[in-house]
Amino acid sequence: KMMDQLFGMHRLEKRLADHFGIARCVISTGDSDRQRKIIEEFGDYLNEALDFLLPEGNNIIAAMGGTTMAIVAERLTNLESEKRHNLFVPARGGIGEAVNLQANSVSSVMAMRANGDYRALYVPEQLSPATYRSLLQEPSILEVLNLISHANCVIHSIGRALHMAARRKMSEEEILMLKQKNAVAESFGYFFNENGEVIYKVPKIGIELNELQDVPVILAVAGGKSKAKAIKAYMKNAPKQTWLITDEAAANEILKGA
Ligand code: G3H
Repeated sequence: KMMDQLFGMHRLEKRLADHFGIARCVISTGDSDRQRKIIEEFGDYLNEALDFLLPEGNNIIAAMGGTTMAIVAERLTNLESEKRHNLFVPARGGIGEAVNLQANSVSSVMAMRANGDYRALYVPEQLSPATYRSLLQEPSILEVLNLISHANCVIHSIGRALHMAARRKMSEEEILMLKQKNAVAESFGYFFNENGEVIYKVPKIGIELNELQDVPVILAVAGGKSKAKAIKAYMKNAPKQTWLITDEAAANEILKGA
């Protein structure tokens, strides 16, 4: 019976990966909207995937923020070896999250759990364009930005557009605009419509969406029935090498009528 279930899940994983045209899907049983422990399980799968996918040598792993990322970060275990060294950096700085949900925090927790190193990106949230420009001339910030641009692994989640806009306290004008343009998904500070087209970008520093294409290892972690639409939209144009770690509830909702 257990083997049947396992086999059924593998079929669902294959079906979802084919549906999106991406490298691989890993699916947990259940619905992470209802159970936090499923998000922890995403973390265990993420840990296994990283161990499998990260090559020997010096890796630069760029992580995004959010509640999912904050939970999965805690589940990493040692990913170092004599031949493999990992440096964790935030993928994008300052998109308006609470401190514990910021990419800086997530990457430092990942580094701690995985016995790797980390570098933070210290850029305050609210700055005048002039201060922002001069901060970007700072050698210490340029150095981290340079590391980020050489990341060979990116780990991120996917959110619901309006939910993310509200949580990050975006302006009423911006929220109205997101509604008018039918935003359904958000990732990396980019907003996407149902066709996976970028309709808005929060102007922040770090990884740009077009740079993702050249990153060899990409892991997206997002689940729950409530995120099905968002995951579907983002995945329309996601880089083909992406692995998606999700749950049954999201997978079944996405494949409904497909
Ligand atoms: O960009 C996506 C968001 O970071 C997802 O946030 O994990 O709190 O749903 P969440």
